[in-house]
Amino acid sequence: MTPRAKFPATQPEPITVGRELPAISVSPGTIESCDFLDAESVDAIAVGVGAPIAGDDELQPRAGTVHASARYRIDLAELAHRSHFKAAPGTTHVIDLPVTHRGSGAVLPWQGLPLRIILMGVGQGTDDDLRKAGAALAEVSKGLGKVVTTVAARSDDRGTRHFVEGYLLGAYSSWSRKAKAAPVPAQELVLLGPNSQEAVDTARRHAWLTWIARDLATIPSNIKTPAWLASQFVAIAKTYGVEAKTWSGKQLKDQGFGGVEAVGQGSVNPPVMVQLSYVPEKKAKDHKHVVLVGKGISFDTGGISIKRPRETMITMKTDMTGAADAFAAVIGAATSKIGHSVTAMLPLAENHFGANSTRPSDVITIFGGKTVEIANTDAEGRVVMADALAYGSLELGADLLIDVATLTGAAAMSLGHSHAALFTNNEDLSKRFLEAAEETGEALWRMPLVHEYSEALESQVADLRNIPEHAAGAGAVVAALFLEQFANGLPWVHLDIAGPSHRNSKHHEANKGPTGFGARVVLEVLEKL
Ligand code: BES
Ligand code: MN
Ligand code: ZN
Repeated sequence: MTPRAKFPATQPEPITVGRELPAISVSPGTIESCDFLDAESVDAIAVGVGAPIAGDDELQPRAGTVHASARYRIDLAELAHRSHFKAAPGTTHVIDLPVTHRGSGAVLPWQGLPLRIILMGVGQGTDDDLRKAGAALAEVSKGLGKVVTTVAARSDDRGTRHFVEGYLLGAYSSWSRKAKAAPVPAQELVLLGPNSQEAVDTARRHAWLTWIARDLATIPSNIKTPAWLASQFVAIAKTYGVEAKTWSGKQLKDQGFGGVEAVGQGSVNPPVMVQLSYVPEKKAKDHKHVVLVGKGISFDTGGISIKRPRETMITMKTDMTGAADAFAAVIGAATSKIGHSVTAMLPLAENHFGANSTRPSDVITIFGGKTVEIANTDAEGRVVMADALAYGSLELGADLLIDVATLTGAAAMSLGHSHAALFTNNEDLSKRFLEAAEETGEALWRMPLVHEYSEALESQVADLRNIPEHAAGAGAVVAALFLEQFANGLPWVHLDIAGPSHRNSKHHEANKGPTGFGARVVLEVLEKL
C-alpha cells in the first residue's frame, strides 16, 4: 500500500496572471529539404488537406501533403480518402506509422522519419478555416514534444496569423488547482516555409490577451475580490507603461461614483474603480481618445433581488469578463503601440446581499448627477457601468466610448453562445466592429436601439429606473438604452457578451468554460482606428 500523501501535500503556488504561451518557431525549409525531420527529434508532422470543391468528392492536397507523400513514399491523399476523411476545417486524421518487426530485416520507406502524420482539414483555406485547423492541431498534439507543420507555408501573413492564433487559443488549458494536471500543449510547434515571424508575433500578442481574460474569468470569486482584481490590473499595467489610478472606500463617495458604491456595499469585499491609461509616444495624425468600459462584477448573487433559479448563479464568477476584456485591450494597445490614447475604466464590485445591501426601491446618484431608482438589485451591471461611462464622457474628454459587459440573460437567450449583441449609435463604428469580428472570429450581431422602449425606464422618483416597471421583453435592448443615457451623445458601442462569455463545451478555438470572448475584437478595432 502506498502511504497517504499529507494534505495539503504542497502549498498551492500564488496565482499570477499572464502565463507564458507555448513555443512556436519558424523555419524556412520545406518537408523535402528539412534536415531535422527525424523520429528522434520530431514527434509528428502536420500537413493541411483541402476539402473537396462543391460538386466534387476529391480532396485538395496542399503542397505540404504532396511533399510529405513524396518523402514518406505514401500517397497521403489516397489514404485520407480511403479513411473517409472529408478535410472539414477543424477535423484531423492521425496516421501512426508502423515500424518493422524486430529481426525481420525489412526496411520501410519512412525509416527514420517521424512516425506520426497529422492530416488537418483546412476546408477552403479561409481565415476561419485556418483558425479552426490551428485549434484542432493544438488539441491533437497535446502532450507531444516537437511538432512540425507546413500548413501555413503557402499562405500569406494573414493565413499564418489566423492559423497560429487558432493554435494558441486551442492550446489553452484552464487555470486549475486540480491535483492531476491537464494535458499540456506540444513543447514546440515549428512552422516550415516562408512564414513571417511578424505574423506569429501578432497572433501571440492577440491570443495572449484572450488567455488573460480566460484566466481571470476562471479564477474563483473567493480569490478574485474587487481588491485582488484591481491589484492584478495595476501591477500588470505598470509593467507595460500603462498608468493606473484607483478609487476605493471613501474615495468612491468623494468622487461621486454612486453606482459602484451602491452595488458593492452589500459585500464584505469592498468595491474599487480602476482607471488604466495608455498614451502613445507617437500620436496618430487623427489622434483619438478611446474610453473602454468593462463590467467588473467579481460575483453576481443578484443582491437582495437574489437570483432564481439558484443554478443561474453558478457561472456568475465570470461576470467580470467585460472588465478583463477591457483590461486586456488596453494592455494590447500598449504592446501594439497604437497611435491613439486608450483609457480603460473598470468598475469592480461584488453584488452580494448583506445588512448594508442596496434595497429594491433605493435611489442613488450616478457620477455626473443623474439619479437612478434601483428597482431590481440584479440589474447591477448597468448601474456600475453608468458611473464609468459618465466619467469617460464628462470627465475624460473621450472621443468615443466602447463598453463590454456580461449584461443580460436576454442577450444570451436570443443569440446563444456564439454571438454577442452589438449596440451602437454610430454607423461607422458598427461597420468597424462587424469587420473586426470577422477577423478575430468573435461573432457579433447588431441589435437595434429601439428608442420608443426608453419610456420603460421612466421612474416616479428618479431620472431613471434600472429595470422597466412592466416587463415587456427586449431585455438586452432596454439595458443598452439605459447605458446610452450615460454616453452623453458621444459615438458609443456596447457589446453584450452574456452569451459567448461562457461555453458548455469546446468549439474549435473557443474553450469550454469562461472563454474570454471580446478581448481580441476590441483590440482589433483599436489597431485599425
Ligand atoms: N450578470 C447578469 C447577466 C447574465 C446572465 C450574464 C446570464 C451571463 C449569463 C446580469 O447582472 C443580470 O442579472 N441581468 C438580469 C437583468 C434583469 C434583472 C433585468 C437578467 O438578465 O436576468
Ligand atoms: Mn445581475
Ligand atoms: Zn451581473
